[in-house]
Amino acid sequence: ATTTGGETADVLVVGSGIAGCSAALAAARDGAAVLLLTKATKPDDASTDWAQGGISTTRGDPDSLKRDIVDASDGTADPDAVETLVANADDAVEDVLIDTLEVGFDETDDGEFDYTREAAHSDYRILHVDAATGTHILRPFLNYLDDHERIEVRQDTAALELITAEGRVHGVVSDERPTGKPIYAGATILATGGIGALYGRSTNPADATGDGIAMAALAGADVEDMEYVQFHPTAYAGENPFLLSEALRGEGAVLRNGDGDQFMAGYHSRGDLAPRDVVARAVETEREETGEVVLDVSPLEFEADYPGIAEKCRDRGIEGDRIPVAPCEHFLCGGIDVDERGRTSLDRLYAVGECARTGVHGANRLASTSLLEGLVWGLRAGTDATGFDPAVVEAPELLNRDPDLPERFATEKFARLTQTMDDYLGLERNPEEIDRSSAVLRRLKGEVDAYIRTRTARDLYELRNASVTALLIARAAGENTESTGCHYVVDDEAPLP
Ligand code: SIN
Repeated sequence: ATTTGGETADVLVVGSGIAGCSAALAAARDGAAVLLLTKATKPDDASTDWAQGGISTTRGDPDSLKRDIVDASDGTADPDAVETLVANADDAVEDVLIDTLEVGFDETDDGEFDYTREAAHSDYRILHVDAATGTHILRPFLNYLDDHERIEVRQDTAALELITAEGRVHGVVSDERPTGKPIYAGATILATGGIGALYGRSTNPADATGDGIAMAALAGADVEDMEYVQFHPTAYAGENPFLLSEALRGEGAVLRNGDGDQFMAGYHSRGDLAPRDVVARAVETEREETGEVVLDVSPLEFEADYPGIAEKCRDRGIEGDRIPVAPCEHFLCGGIDVDERGRTSLDRLYAVGECARTGVHGANRLASTSLLEGLVWGLRAGTDATGFDPAVVEAPELLNRDPDLPERFATEKFARLTQTMDDYLGLERNPEEIDRSSAVLRRLKGEVDAYIRTRTARDLYELRNASVTALLIARAAGENTESTGCHYVVDDEAPLP
């Protein structure tokens, strides 16, 4: 094995969104030497930077937040995980975001926090910075970590494989040039984010290729709830979609169909503020039946209160206050199965943020809980992961191989993968199409694996990770015949009642 030139860290974090940053912060506060690897080259390569609506607090009523999380999940959220999230929410926000990073959350004229509301929340309890909350959290966070004496943030560096020996994870092999490098760690924390790149339309950055989920699954870690892919109901319907935050509806914007009528009251008692999965399916139905759905922002001070979204509308040439919308892949509720401290089923391997499945979201996530989950679990995992010595073991032999990829190989295979996901594993699924998707994805993974034996290009590993993750979604979708939350099964072959 060509495992020379390795380095060691007490705690190795992979990923630079809010979850990875929180894990790094907590581990360093506990005295660990932390190396944070990220394939990102700029902050907006991480989904956190794209987060709009905000981050939930309890605003003094934890039981109400817990109820909303469980209701939005169709009763499937794990009560213990919800308790962990909610019990730690306000302290984590205050300690890290307000006291340490001094995030300038919007305030009212009286100098109080200007809490907003999103769909399926029964109260105004969400802290935000207009509708660009993620950017205003992540950028100071990265600056803070950059200045921390016990943390090294290394950009443009991808983890390709986990290093495992006798059931324990000892770090990763990175793609550092010229030949890649083993990085050994006392504990390894995956915070690699979601899977948006698996779909043709997503609110995630292109880097969201399911890397951590695939690496963990290939090393034998348990993954759960992979069928629960959440589609956001209101992304711009045209080319190059962008998110129109639920906060817009929380503050009074309404959905209208192609006839100009409001329709959500006919689908759910909460109308426009129904849980996300319900609104997404209703929007798709109305688009099919009436030609289009628009978000009518005329009840808002749109330009003044949501300058970032208004600018995106102008960039796309959208005029007036009715913005065409369609559902768009947004968040994976499942992922690598973890406990209340982010521990996976493999020793010394942790997972936090969107790549992890804590149980908080069950089959459908409540708005504004993803930044919170990343923050809370990141801190808990970072603390738990300290105190282990790194051990140098034999690393997977993937170095010294031809790092180049034949032109167009990754692009063409990626196009086939996203087409398969869009066609067969979208908002609605049926058993026959799920089977078809598995067959296509298995073939595709076989083709990618043949190349992986001889090459180490990052594109190729992203494609491998995307196809492994896609197969996990297809398998979970095929095994679950019951419609719950985001997993909506329609059996076209079923006899009519
Ligand atoms: C949004 O702003 O609508 C997205 C919020 C979320 O996904 O939590």
